[in-house]
Amino acid sequence: NERTYIMIKPDGVQRGLVAEIIARFARKGFTLRAMKMMNVTKEHAEKHYADLSSKPFFGGLVSYMCSGPVVAMVWEGKDVVKTGRKIIGATNPAASEPGTIRGDFCIEVGRNVIHGSDAVESANHEIGLWFPEGVCEYEPCAKAWIYE
Ligand code: GTP
Ligand code: MG
Repeated sequence: NERTYIMIKPDGVQRGLVAEIIARFARKGFTLRAMKMMNVTKEHAEKHYADLSSKPFFGGLVSYMCSGPVVAMVWEGKDVVKTGRKIIGATNPAASEPGTIRGDFCIEVGRNVIHGSDAVESANHEIGLWFPEGVCEYEPCAKAWIYE
């Protein structure tokens, strides 16, 4: 079953959006496999966003991610990587559709409240990076009511 790494960034936590964001993934029918609140070290944030290390905003991005606790999660379900990105909305909130998390709750790209993996391969990499202890294995009871 497909899994994705979703993270509520420090602004999302500080602005009281944790429950709202979790609710959107849960109501859709996705399964929560892991969740923890944590402060992020500079080294860990740099690893997570390593692909962007040459960007001019990299330093600001890393200090943003370390500016307060994040909520790290693993969600599972059919096409959860792609659908998760749809639920989140475009990177720049100025372009995110209303109804998406970024479209509804933020204004600037440098304070866009949430992260979601952009491909199945990066999801697996990020899940390993953030949850080296592994995720919770259990049988979600509503499966037959969500999948045909
Ligand atoms: P993530 O889910 O956080 O990975 O966002 P994304 O996949 O939609 O975008 P991308 O991976 O390209 O960029 C990662 C993060 O860097 C974004 O979510 C923004 O927080 C930040 N970012 C991207 N582009 C810019 C930019 O032009 N300026 C600033 N200040 N931040 C940016
Ligand atoms: Mg990204």
